[in-house]
Amino acid sequence: MPSSPSFKVAGRAVVLLAAAAALDAETGYNAWLRYAKLTGTALDQYRQSVPAVVAAMGDSRLETSAQSELIRGIRGMLGRTPRAESGIPQENAIVLGTLEQIRHHAPQWRLDIMPAANGYWLKTVTAGRIRYTVIAGSDERGVLYGAFALLRKIALGDAIANLDEKESPYAPVRWVNQWDNLDGTIERGYGGRSIFWDNLKAREDLTRVSDYGRMLASLGINGCSINNVNANPRVLSPEFAPQVARIADAFRPWGVRVAIAVDFGSPQTIGGLDTFDPLDSRVAAWWKSRIDDLYGAIPDLGGIVLKADSEGRVGPSTYGRTHADAANVLARALKPHGGLLLYRGFVYDHHMDWRNLKNDRGRAAYDNFHDLDGKFDDNVIVQIKNGPIDFQVREPASPLFGALEKTNQAIELQITQEYFGQSRHMVFLVPMWKETLDFDMHAGQASRPAVPTPVKALVAGKTFERPTGGLVGVANIGLDDNWSGNQLSQANLYGFGRLAWNPDLSAQKIAAEWTRQTFGPDPQVSATIGQMLLSSWRTFENYTGPLGLQTLTDITGNHYGVNVEASERNGWGQWHRADEKGVGMDRTAASGTGFIGQYRAAVARVYESLETCPDDLLLFLHHVPYTYQLHSGKTVIQSIYDSHYEGAAAVAQYVRQWKSLAGLVDEERYGQVLAQLEYQAGQAVVWRDAVNTWFRRASQIPDAKARNLPPRFEAEAMSLEGYAVSDVTPMEDASGGKAVACPAGAPQCTASLRFSGEPGWYTLNVQYFDQANGTAHYRVWVGNQLVDEWAADLRLPTAKLDSTSSTRRVISGIALRPGDTIRIEGRPDGAESAALDYLEIARVN
Ligand code: GCU
Repeated sequence: MPSSPSFKVAGRAVVLLAAAAALDAETGYNAWLRYAKLTGTALDQYRQSVPAVVAAMGDSRLETSAQSELIRGIRGMLGRTPRAESGIPQENAIVLGTLEQIRHHAPQWRLDIMPAANGYWLKTVTAGRIRYTVIAGSDERGVLYGAFALLRKIALGDAIANLDEKESPYAPVRWVNQWDNLDGTIERGYGGRSIFWDNLKAREDLTRVSDYGRMLASLGINGCSINNVNANPRVLSPEFAPQVARIADAFRPWGVRVAIAVDFGSPQTIGGLDTFDPLDSRVAAWWKSRIDDLYGAIPDLGGIVLKADSEGRVGPSTYGRTHADAANVLARALKPHGGLLLYRGFVYDHHMDWRNLKNDRGRAAYDNFHDLDGKFDDNVIVQIKNGPIDFQVREPASPLFGALEKTNQAIELQITQEYFGQSRHMVFLVPMWKETLDFDMHAGQASRPAVPTPVKALVAGKTFERPTGGLVGVANIGLDDNWSGNQLSQANLYGFGRLAWNPDLSAQKIAAEWTRQTFGPDPQVSATIGQMLLSSWRTFENYTGPLGLQTLTDITGNHYGVNVEASERNGWGQWHRADEKGVGMDRTAASGTGFIGQYRAAVARVYESLETCPDDLLLFLHHVPYTYQLHSGKTVIQSIYDSHYEGAAAVAQYVRQWKSLAGLVDEERYGQVLAQLEYQAGQAVVWRDAVNTWFRRASQIPDAKARNLPPRFEAEAMSLEGYAVSDVTPMEDASGGKAVACPAGAPQCTASLRFSGEPGWYTLNVQYFDQANGTAHYRVWVGNQLVDEWAADLRLPTAKLDSTSSTRRVISGIALRPGDTIRIEGRPDGAESAALDYLEIARVN
């Protein structure tokens, strides 16, 4: 697992920031629950409308949490500490309790409409001159969620004086999954090590778990699976239950039920049986006894997550059994305890023959599950990834959502940014999730074709009146101060939770809510960050995989850097099938893999025809020549070139936008985000150049636009002392396919050139390689003057010279005159070779 990046405040940024010194530095630990002190009229108004008492009608754990959270929030935002009471006071008060409790204490209020499970009613009630702000939950979770909702209103500046608002969650299952290994690493985690595990045990100090529970509760999330779906069988061993129980204890005050992921071979590996055949009665008895024991230790365990027959995990296929057989054997053991079995729909063959054009990993989920519809027990949920492949930058909704009528389902979304630049790129995923959730699968009865059946309604069980279902997000937060590896990625956790509660919320609303709670009410801050977040998915898609190409990353490696060919000629099935003539997977029913035929007719019709297939999904669904003309009017190849330039330009613009917030955001977070965006801007150029070079070479069709780019000087063409020229693979990862590297053991190497342009002010872009196997140092001189120095210490996930290590240093405001010598010194460290790719010299207008 790559370690999380540490974006440090560059020395230059500190100067810019002097004005921000008045704002408190923040680490991001409190995320959107900062409860920052209000000012001005907002403070005055809320001080008038928020009473001095918070009265709880019950003393359950969740109500106690609700009460103390209200006091904490009010103290933070209003600078006043309300009194905690029980019973209904004879003065203005916030009164919280379940509806039943409130009716008991105050029947005269006639609160007689019950919101649905986990829901709440915020209502202002007056009795003579006394005014009560009532938080009535349909149950204890509802009380807690209502308390957070009231605090959110205050943080957002919403009116609270005359409330009458009922809300209940859209779906019963609102869970996060953590892919934490028991040794403390996290698979696809980019925010540090596990908050749960270390050294094959639960951590001694589980404060972070409680704090995470609080964050989850603030969004209405009610479950969390706490270990990797690629599960260590040990999690089920009898002596391990107390470890799980400790974590459940830490979450419990926040209403977050713990779930665990298990290995399907466990009856054999830890149970000592000679089989794990789900239809063997000894196996069923083993599951029952293990699950009974678990419930003995954790009576409110939410359930079990199971990844079987996928990516090398064992499953029912070993015995010729079905996924329903596998799911039901566990579900029956869970049933008496009220537990759920979440069976992952992510089942596919990763040894497919890539030469067979009819093979298609995209078909797998539907092929594996649709025939089993109706065969799963009522406490089984099939957990389906949003798209048919694997969290790619753009995929259509999985056809399986529209194919299950008698089976509970949940959508699995990935909050951790595995294929989205990990924690180093800003990508706000809510607009993408919304597209899938809102997508109409046309799955309704033929007699009612006009009733829309969006994915959100299907997974929530609304369309086919299923008993349960919902939304699951793979969160993978870690021990980093800011939980996610960077400040802006927290918006994805927030957004997931808000959508799980109410998928009808708009991306704009969610972005605005998050920004205001996280960075304060300044309108410029809100507008700027909102604009950045909302455009960021399209931006990322533009430079990493437009037109449905999928993320053109190193899919057999770190899933981070660019590697157009990594998807091809292997069994993993993330093929885009680009060759010298054309590009895209033919998934049509007519001539391709038949994938499109898995959709209901109304959807299939749109996708099957080139006339109606949206440009954004074209290459996911069709194979076309590079010269094929899109609905946009551009050819495919020109669109690929253009979108990469647009994507890179957009990230450069984010840097400028963020800089406009200097002094308006606290220094610590301002500096971290600036460093992250500057890095991302450099990476977007690496992606742009690598992808465009690859397609230029494959298609032999040049870019029709003359691009106005700064002159580039290849390191291998500079005057070198000590540096040796080295080939980079794949060659498009470096400009000209080459880099220069300083041999290990050499004290230092230099690359220099004589400037021959016009005199003036310039920016120097130094493209260098920051490998993970040392900390090289660089210095840049103009004549005898040192103009910049830095350490290559980003801990990127590669030891090689490639697109993952390729990094840009921007040195701005440099005066150059013809004849000046620009000299770059590199000092290697360990196996890190202080390598260089090129220098760009950009005139500042
Ligand atoms: C992706 C991811 C794996 C993960 C798998 C899953 O393929 O790269 O790390 O185990 O999804 O969802 O099971």
